[in-house]
Amino acid sequence: MDFLWIAGGRKLSGNVRISGSKNASLPLLGATLLAKNRVQLTNLPNVVDIVTFLSLLSRLGAETTMQNGEAFVETLGVRETKAVYDIVRKMRASILVLGPLLARFGHCEVSLPGGCAIGARPVDLHLRAFEKMGAEIRIQSGYINAKAPKGLKGAVIDFDKITVTGTENVVMAAALAKGTTTIQNAACEPEVVQLCEVLHNCGVGICGIGTNELTIEGSGGELLNLAPISVISDRIEAGTYLCAGAITNSDITLSHVCVKHLYTILDLLRTIGFGIETGDDFVRILPCNKIASFELHTAEYPGFPTDLQAQFMALATQAEGETLIEERLFENRFMHAVELQRMGAKIELEGNKARIFGRQTLFGADVMATDLRASSALVLAALIAEGESRIHRIYHLDRGYERIEEKLSALGAMVKRSKE
Ligand code: UD1
Repeated sequence: MDFLWIAGGRKLSGNVRISGSKNASLPLLGATLLAKNRVQLTNLPNVVDIVTFLSLLSRLGAETTMQNGEAFVETLGVRETKAVYDIVRKMRASILVLGPLLARFGHCEVSLPGGCAIGARPVDLHLRAFEKMGAEIRIQSGYINAKAPKGLKGAVIDFDKITVTGTENVVMAAALAKGTTTIQNAACEPEVVQLCEVLHNCGVGICGIGTNELTIEGSGGELLNLAPISVISDRIEAGTYLCAGAITNSDITLSHVCVKHLYTILDLLRTIGFGIETGDDFVRILPCNKIASFELHTAEYPGFPTDLQAQFMALATQAEGETLIEERLFENRFMHAVELQRMGAKIELEGNKARIFGRQTLFGADVMATDLRASSALVLAALIAEGESRIHRIYHLDRGYERIEEKLSALGAMVKRSKE
């Protein structure tokens, strides 16, 4: 198993190129199951979750290749409709094959994703939506067994909670269903928007893209012809590198970003004192004299992303006063707090709220990555800790951050990957 060794205390400088979005790539790869043509995707991040999804597609019978961020996926030969436990347990987002497989074949089996480090994370909303579209769903031996022998039909889906992958799953299924599907309380994250735009560009009628109500005209089972797709930039990776600049109080520039997806994050960084310059596809963060404490509540887009909560908690340890963070999306997303405390952070937890006391000197330590974003918070803390840190179990980081040690080293950090 690999770990990251980091010697803290170095200022960063220079330019970092932000990769394509993992969370946008996954549903787009799922959507290749709706296509009759060989689909080209570019700007895919070279991270483990993408490799896992491609291997899921090949186990289903797709032909896939990937090199230098470019993949070709041809799913016409798919005959298998079972997504096995072995793959789903590695990546919950495997659930994104459920909608396309069910819509295309009228049946499928997908291993039920279990809970994960950040909470129970049920998929009941996905399943209820498919039932409304005419599917029969049974849970058997840990698998979701879904059948719609007469095909899926359009329906009105009113999600009780906003769900990102739930919305994506239903959008993909609705694109092949018979008739019109309306999704109320839909997610409007940029990753959902890109999926809708890709389907819309190939002729699927979709209204309300980027809003909380989507209307999709299904093709009645006819497969789609998907044009080449260039995946949008990863706003969470961008937010993480902005935090790296902020926590080390450095001047760094991020290139290949989509600035409009970062407004909430940039506003917060400006409010707490950092200079921010933006251009067409770059953001520069400039050092500040004092980092002001802040209050943040995670929320659905365009609110503050839960996937950056951990990184901003690391940053809060360096603020002037007390910061309050409220996690509103997941019930157990403070695992990083305990590891940050081991590095000297002063954090009080109460339910879904964390109070972080600023101006703390952090010390290098052996710490354990618990989930993808929690791991990046530990990397950020290690960048300013006195002495050396070793971050273990970085397979979590590798799921979503492309070449993190190379990118940070190029910015001047002392980071090395080693084997346990
Ligand atoms: C996606 C992102 C993840 C991000 C999350 C919230 C991908 C691959 N992952 O995850 O990085 O942290 O959005 O922005 O895009 N819920 C239910 N029942 C359901 C579905 C969801 O109760 O059927 C609850 C969840 O437990 C959670 C909330 O709804 O409390 C939002 O979850 P959801 O938006 O579905 O997260 P994911 O799509 O899994």
